[in-house]
Amino acid sequence: PTVTYVHPDGTKHEVEVPTGKRVMQAAIGAGIDGIVAECGGQAMCATCHVYIESPWADKFPSISEEEDEMLDDTVSPRTEASRLSCQLVVSDDVDGLIVRLPEEQV
Ligand code: FES
Repeated sequence: PTVTYVHPDGTKHEVEVPTGKRVMQAAIGAGIDGIVAECGGQAMCATCHVYIESPWADKFPSISEEEDEMLDDTVSPRTEASRLSCQLVVSDDVDGLIVRLPEEQV
């Protein structure tokens, strides 16, 4: 599946991501700035915050209690579209996914 990461200034990076990889891991692997992922993917840091809008938002499992708590600690404002990218597994269902990166992570 293809995932496009969009920086706050509008710059886009399209990445081909293998199924089963996390949205966070794929960004780190592709050298995309804007996702820090301090905790390495354990839903414990909130520095992998991203915005996922429709139609993709509904294609991921809903926010767990752990993720919900961390999302209250993001540096950039939390919105309806906020998710932790380490909790999002890429599958064929989300091909074409657009991931908006927040202004700041730390
Ligand atoms: Fe730490 Fe996602 S990498 S919460």
